[in-house]
Amino acid sequence: AVRLRVREALGAREPADAVRVQGWVRSVRSQKEVLFLHINDGSSLESLQVVADPSLEKDLTFGSAVEVQGKLVKSPHRMQNMELQAETIRVVGPCDIWSFPLKMKERHPLEYVRQFPHLRCRTNTLGALLRIRSEATAGVHSFFQDNGYVHIHTPIITSNDCEGAGELFQIETSSEAKESAEKTHFFNVPAFLTVSGQLHLEVMAGAFTHVFTFGPTFRAENSQSRRHLAEFYMVEAELSFTESLQDIMQVMEDLFKTVTSTVLSKCPHDVELFHKHIAPAQKSDITHKLFSSSCRISYSEAMEILKQAPQTFTFKPEWGCDLQTEHEKYLVKHCGEVPVFVVNYPYDLKPFYMRDNEDGPQHTVAAVDLLVPGVGELCGGSLREERLPFLESRLQRLGLRDAYQWYLDLRKFGSVPHGGFGMGFERYLQYILGVDNIKDVIPFPRFSHSCLL
Ligand code: 4AD
Ligand code: MG
Repeated sequence: AVRLRVREALGAREPADAVRVQGWVRSVRSQKEVLFLHINDGSSLESLQVVADPSLEKDLTFGSAVEVQGKLVKSPHRMQNMELQAETIRVVGPCDIWSFPLKMKERHPLEYVRQFPHLRCRTNTLGALLRIRSEATAGVHSFFQDNGYVHIHTPIITSNDCEGAGELFQIETSSEAKESAEKTHFFNVPAFLTVSGQLHLEVMAGAFTHVFTFGPTFRAENSQSRRHLAEFYMVEAELSFTESLQDIMQVMEDLFKTVTSTVLSKCPHDVELFHKHIAPAQKSDITHKLFSSSCRISYSEAMEILKQAPQTFTFKPEWGCDLQTEHEKYLVKHCGEVPVFVVNYPYDLKPFYMRDNEDGPQHTVAAVDLLVPGVGELCGGSLREERLPFLESRLQRLGLRDAYQWYLDLRKFGSVPHGGFGMGFERYLQYILGVDNIKDVIPFPRFSHSCLL
C-alpha cells in the first residue's frame, strides 16, 4: 500500500486502491452499520474521514495513534473531497481518554491548553499556529534571500550587551555556579545570552552589504506580560550604504507584506481558524495589516499628541521619557488603528550605536520604532553611528571604549553609512493572527513548575 499524508489523501484527484494513512484519532462516531473516524497527522487542519465496519472499533479511542489501510474514494459528502474506506485499522498507540486532558470535539480555551505544553500541539488551534509559524519562518528566509541578503548565524553566547538595558542572562558552567566566590569564567570574560545579533551583523554588513539573521534572543524582563518573553526569536537586517531612515522603514514594510502574503497563500485555512475563532474582529482588518495605509510621526510630535490627549495616563507623557504601552495604544488609535512609524527619539533614551541627529536643544538620534494595533512595538531600528569621533566619545563617556575597540575598528577601516532593524517574530505572529497572549504563539510555553520544558 502507498503511504499518504492526510493532506495528500484529502487533495488526491483520483481514487486509489491500496493506501495507508497514519495519524491520531480526532473523533470516533459509531453507528449501527458504520464507524466514522477522523484522522489527523499534522499535515493539515482538516482531518481525513475514515469509514469502517463497526467490528474494527476495538481500542479505537480519541487521541490514539492508528494506521489505517484501505481504499481512497470520492466522498459523498459535500464538505470533503476524499475519504478512506478502511480494510484494516491497527492501533499503534492507545490513549486513555479518561486521563487525557484533551476532549473530543471540544474547543479548549488557549489558557486551558497552555497547562499542557507537551500535548497542546494536538489541538486544532496550536496545530494551525505551528504550521503558520513554520511557513512564516520559511517566508522570512525567502524574502531576504530573494533580495540579495546573506544569512549570518550570529553568536548566541556573547560578551557584549548590544542594547545596554541591563536585561542580560549571564551564563556560567555548573561548576562555576557552585564556586561563585572564585570569579573564574569559562570564557575568561563574563558571557551572556545574546539580546540581539545586531553588532555582529554590523561586522558582516561591512563585507556583504546586506545581511540578516533570524535566531533566538534572550531578555530577563517582565515574564508576566502578554508581549514579553525571556526567550524569543528576532528577525534582524543590516544594510550598508544606507543614509536614510526611509530605506529602513521600506524594508520593514516589504518584509511584513511579503511574509504575510506567503502565510496567507500557504495556509489559508489555518489563518481562517484564527480569524474565525480567536479574534473575529481581525478578519475585516486584514487589509490594514497588509499596510494598505500607515502613518509616520516623530517622537516629538508623538509627545505633543499625547500631551493633548483628553485622557490621563498612568505615566505622564514628558519629552525624554520612553513610550509606555498606554502611550503606544493611544498613538495607534489617534492615527486610525494603522501601523505607526515613530522616528527620531531622544539621544539619552537610546543605545550608544544610534546615529546622532546633531539637533537641539531637544537632542535626538535617527531611530525608528514601528507600532502596530493591539501589539505595540513590532520593530525597532536605526541608522548606526558610522563616524569615528562621535562613536568614540559616546563610548568613552559610557566607559565602554576599551570593550568596544573592535566595534570602533569598523569605523576606521572602510566605514559606511548603514542601518538596520529587528522585528520580534512572536509579536509579528500575535499581530497577524490577533492572538492576545504571546505565550500562545510559541511551541513551548514556559512554566515555573515545569522543569521538563
Ligand atoms: O527594539 P529592540 O530592543 O531592538 C534591538 O534589539 C535592535 N538591536 C535590533 C536591530 O536594530 N537589529 O528589539 C527588536 C524587537 C522589538 O521591537 C520587539 O518586537 C521584539 O524585538 N522584542 C521582544 N519580543 C518578545 N519578548 C521580548 N522580551 C522582546 N523584546 C524585544
Ligand atoms: Mg525597541
